[in-house]
Order: sequence, then structure tokens, then C-alpha cells
Amino acid sequence: MKTLTGKVALITGGSGDIGGAIARRLGTEGAHAIVTWVGAEDAANKTVHDIQSNGGSASALRLDQRSPDSIEACVAAVAKAHGRLDILVNNAAWNIGIPFPDLDALTPDIWDRVLETNVRGPFLLARAAAKLLKADGGGHIINISSAGGISPGSSSIAYSSSKAALNHLTRCLAVAMAPNVAVNCIAPGLVENTRMAKRLPENVAKGARAQAVLGRVGQPDDIAAQVVMFVTSNSITGQTMVVDGGMPGAMR
Ligand SMILES: NC(=O)c1ccc[n+]([C@@H]2O[C@H](COP(=O)([O-])OP(=O)(O)OC[C@H]3O[C@@H](n4cnc5c(N)ncnc54)[C@H](OP(=O)(O)O)[C@@H]3O)[C@@H](O)[C@H]2O)c1
Repeated sequence: MKTLTGKVALITGGSGDIGGAIARRLGTEGAHAIVTWVGAEDAANKTVHDIQSNGGSASALRLDQRSPDSIEACVAAVAKAHGRLDILVNNAAWNIGIPFPDLDALTPDIWDRVLETNVRGPFLLARAAAKLLKADGGGHIINISSAGGISPGSSSIAYSSSKAALNHLTRCLAVAMAPNVAVNCIAPGLVENTRMAKRLPENVAKGARAQAVLGRVGQPDDIAAQVVMFVTSNSITGQTMVVDGGMPGAMR
């Protein structure tokens, strides 16, 4: 039997690069992977198809996590279809490249969209899914944050601040949902071969590659492997694991 046989996992943003990799990995480990999309239905269906072609089990749901109603509907659909939820991966996020010194370009609308998507969405998903996650022996939440939530960097001040808030939300939820649900966080640095990385200012991406003491930054599969590590442990909660190839001066 595979490690996660019988488990149900909801991966937000499973239409994206890292979410797709996480869903495929959880599918390989035996979980039923529910991948969400907001605009890219074809990409979500491709993730589902990849998992099924590999002998796994998967399905797709639309979710706009800026909308509290959409969040409630998504979790209700999971409950109706499966009657359980063991793993919630809060992976979906939104960013836009705005250099830090360009304060005027960071408008209230952009600020609100980033914070709504990247912090309020994960909180509302955890809230909506709490009952299901606590049942059947308990479950796991994994929040996908960013190294930019630890040191000031990445695509914009709003994004960096949203991820710092997500890191702290992880600790708050770990306390709030104990002892039934373990809540942990992964903070990737630059992740190669992703559209989001391509939206980073080029000097930020170059700097990350140059500083990685392991000679490589992360790949989507490195993030997926860390998710599996967290969901197969029952004694870790409230932690944020940085996956960035190792940055001197920023060893956390
Ligand atoms: N790539 C990197 O270098 C990097 C570095 C550090 C942290 N991260 C974090 O890793 C996670 C995944 O990033 P990625 O590179 O895979 O990004 P991506 O390919 O751009 O995927 C983002 C995902 O979020 C979904 N999404 C966006 N707005 C949404 C909304 N309002 N409601 C629901 N879903 C929404 C997108 O859905 P649609 O595709 O359907 O539009 C997509 O599936 C994010 O949390 C990101 O902050 C990435």
C-alpha cells in the first residue's frame, strides 16, 4: 500500500507549476488529489490527466479564493464527493512584479488583491475545511509561502508582506487547530521553470541563483517532496521550511 492511500488532498492552484507538481506527487503517493483552478481549467485538467495516466486518482474544481462564497462552495463540494479531507495545500497565490522602490506603483487595489489572495484566502480555506480536517484522526495543512516572507525581497512589497503574514498565520493556525491538525509552511526561494519566477525582476532571479550555496535553487519537485515530508510526520507543527538552495547571510 502507498503512504497516502485512502487520503484526500485539496491542492489550491493545482493548475499552476508548483501546485501541479505537488498534486502529481501526492497522487503518486496514493492520495486522491483535488486540484483547483481559477482561470486555467485546461492546465488543471492536464494535472488530473497526468495523475490518472500514472495510475493515480484526481479531480478538478474551480476556486476563486478571493471570494468567500467560492471557498465555502469548494469545500462543500469536497465534503459531498469524498466525505473527508486529510490534506489542504494552500498553494495558490497571485503576484505582480513591482520594484520595491517604486512605491507609487503599488496601488491600494494591487495591495488588496495580493493580500486577499495570499493571506485571507488561505485563512478562509483553513476555516472552511477545519471540521473535515479534524475528523478521521486529524489532518495537515501546508501553506506555500516564500523566502520573500522572511527577508525583504521578491516580486513586490505587497507579495513579500503577504507571505510574512502567511508564515505567521501558519503558527497561529498550528495553535488554533491542535491537536488534530498539523499546520506547516514551505517558503521557496526562486523556483526554476515556473511562470511566477519569470515575473520576478531579472536582477532578483539572477541574485538568487548566484547566492545558492548548493549551486542550484529549487525545482517544483523539491517543493512537492517537502510537502510529502510534512504530511507523513505527526510531530511537526507551526514550522516554516525554507527551500532555496541555501543563501549565505540568510541562513534561517
Ligand atoms: N515560482 C516561484 O519561484 C515561487 C517562489 C516562491 C514562492 N512561490 C509560491 O509558490 C506557490 C505556487 O506558485 P507557482 O510558481 O506555481 O505560480 P503559478 O504557476 O502562477 O500558479 C499560481 C496558481 O494560483 C492560482 N490562483 C491565482 N489567483 C487565484 C485566486 N484568486 N483563486 C484561486 N487560485 C488562484 C492560479 O490559478 P489559474 O492558473 O487557474 O489562474 C494558479 O494555479 C505560490 O504560493 C507562490 O507564491 C513560488
